[in-house]
Amino acid sequence: MQALRITGTVVHGDGRGHGLGFPTANLQVSELSCPDGVYAAWVRLAAESSWREATVSIGDNPTFDDVTDTRVECHIHDFSGDLYGAMATIVLVGLIREMRAFGDVAGLIEGTAADLLISRRMLSASPPPTPCAESAGDCVEPGLE
Ligand SMILES: Cc1cc2nc3c(=O)[nH]c(=O)nc-3n(C[C@H](O)[C@H](O)[C@H](O)COP(=O)(O)O)c2cc1C
Repeated sequence: MQALRITGTVVHGDGRGHGLGFPTANLQVSELSCPDGVYAAWVRLAAESSWREATVSIGDNPTFDDVTDTRVECHIHDFSGDLYGAMATIVLVGLIREMRAFGDVAGLIEGTAADLLISRRMLSASPPPTPCAESAGDCVEPGLE
């Protein structure tokens, strides 16, 4: 798949992520041109110059009836911290699977854990985008323009 880049500000989600064991940074984006699904991705926080590994969920979280809009949720691997208000850039490198409605929360947790294993494997075979300057917006990923 051609790498796709998404930039947005981290906003509050429904607060379920921590309870599920997979906290996510929910990105508010102005436009989105990629299909719903779960992706392996690189993410860069505006305050940082290096890329972090992540698994990204895009969709309306159909396991839960109360989500009616499309969410871009980024689970940054091996990261904990408060990112609200931060700008982040995501580069999607590969589709793991379609978004789906799990029968229960246990199924969602199991599915997400499996996604992370696949994501790590995909990222180990896909190097991070080219080094970036300190300021956001200076990165150019091959094939994105
Ligand atoms: C790797 C990953 C895969 C996900 N896959 C699904 C999915 O297939 N179906 C779904 O309903 N939600 C999926 N989600 C979204 C979760 O439902 C969501 O992160 C959780 O409800 C927390 O949302 P919150 O941040 O709004 O509290 C996924 C999240 C992650 C991080």
